[in-house]
Order: sequence, then C-alpha cells, then structure tokens
Amino acid sequence: MSAVPASVPATEPIAYDDVVLGRRSIRGFLRKPVPKSVIQDVLELAIRAPSSYNTQPWNFYVITGEPLERIRRGNVERNLAGIPSSREIRSHGEYGGKHRDRQIDVAKQLFGAMGIERHDKAGRDDWVLRGFRQFDAPVSIAVTYDRSIHGGDIGPFDCGGVTNALVNAAWSRGLGCVINSQGIMQTPVVREHAGIPEDQVIMICIAMGYPDESFPANAVVSRRKSIDEAVVFVGFEG
Ligand SMILES: Cc1cc2nc3c(=O)[nH]c(=O)nc-3n(C[C@H](O)[C@H](O)[C@H](O)COP(=O)(O)O)c2cc1C
Repeated sequence: MSAVPASVPATEPIAYDDVVLGRRSIRGFLRKPVPKSVIQDVLELAIRAPSSYNTQPWNFYVITGEPLERIRRGNVERNLAGIPSSREIRSHGEYGGKHRDRQIDVAKQLFGAMGIERHDKAGRDDWVLRGFRQFDAPVSIAVTYDRSIHGGDIGPFDCGGVTNALVNAAWSRGLGCVINSQGIMQTPVVREHAGIPEDQVIMICIAMGYPDESFPANAVVSRRKSIDEAVVFVGFEG
C-alpha cells in the first residue's frame, strides 16, 4: 500500500460512520496471527493523523510472539509482587465526580457482561491480570515519542490522535483493539523486551487482534455523555 491510500482499498471499504459507531474496545481475541501486511496497512492509515507543525512525534513498536510473552510474564510477575507503576507519562491521580461516575459505569458494564459480581474478589483480580497480559492479544503496539519533547503536552496530544486513528483503521480491517495503560505500567519490562531505547518515552500501548465474538465483554457498547453536556455553541443563531 502506498503512503497515501488509494481510493479503492484492498478490502471492501467500510463507511466512516460504521467504523466509528461500530468500534468498541476488544478484550478477547482469537488465537489467530495478524499478518504483518495488515498491520502495515493499518499503520499507513493511522499516520495520516494530524500533528503539531506536522512533527509526527510518534514511533510504534509492534510486538508479537516470544517478546510479547516475556512482556506479559514480566508485567504479571511485577504486579503480583506489588511493584508500583512506573508509567512515564504523568497521572493526575484518582478520578472524582462525574469522571469517577463514568469510570464506574463502564466497569459495571464490563463486569456485568463477564458475570463478575461486586464481591467476587478473585474474579476482579483475574480481570486486572488479564489487563496486565494485554488480554492475551496476539499483537501489542507500544506508542512512543522522542524524549527530546518530553515534558510538554503536545507530544502526548499528537500520540493520542494517532492512537485513535490507529484503532479506527484497525476496525476497518476487521481487527479489534484495546488501548491500554495496564500493558505499559511496568516500563522496564516493556523497554527491555521490545528493545525501546531510553531516548523514547513510552506513551501507551494498543492490544490488537481478531475479535473473539464469543467473549462477552466484546459486546459492551460504552455510553457517551450527550452533545448537550459536552458542547457550547458560540455565535450561532437559534
Ligand atoms: C488512554 C487510555 C487508556 C486505557 N487503558 C485501559 C486499560 O488499562 N485497560 C482497559 O481495559 N481499557 C483501557 N482503556 C479503554 C477504555 O476503557 C475504553 O476506551 C473506554 O471505556 C470506552 O470504551 P470503548 O473503547 O469500548 O468505546 C483505555 C483507553 C484509553 C484511551
């Protein structure tokens, strides 16, 4: 595929609305390898994302096979050992207010779908560990940016844009993704096994694969606040 996709893609195109409205986070995957050529197509689409001054600060480490297994094992071991997160991008701490309400709302949807009860500690712990294993996806893509621009907000902003473009492009090719922080919370593990040099800041990762339609959480459609709640129109008549 050329850098700018031709008007007729290799596969039957899906309408933009169908991609955006159909996409949801996928947390259960078929044990089916994802061809490198399909991932390349997805990346070609994703990197059309806009960025500040067209700086395109993003880099992608596309990980599969034994290196990904080592990352999963390292993440789980360190989390079970109680090693705190060493995520490189800043956190604001716990969510409160409406943000917390929405966080709880989607968790209820997911646990409800999976049949994990409120007091089922083992079930909840197992779910968290699945996250640290990146839901056993066959592929994980770590998104990084150059440390030379670390500290500003523009680099992470641009990487967020390309990440969103990537999950939508993946969906248009029949692939499911879940953007996840869990997979990159143990920075040294990811850095070592993916061979990410110190001059790269690890921003986020994306678990990717063909969706397992029988996995209940994959059917969850998360809710959105309304346009009325989110938008202020200024200078419009009526
Ligand atoms: C920055 C970011 C980090 C996320 N981290 C996780 C994660 O660690 N584990 C997880 O299961 N989902 C994670 N998600 C997925 C969100 O929970 C999900 O996008 C949100 O609930 C909306 O659901 P949808 O993607 O199905 O529309 C993350 C999403 C983003 C954008």
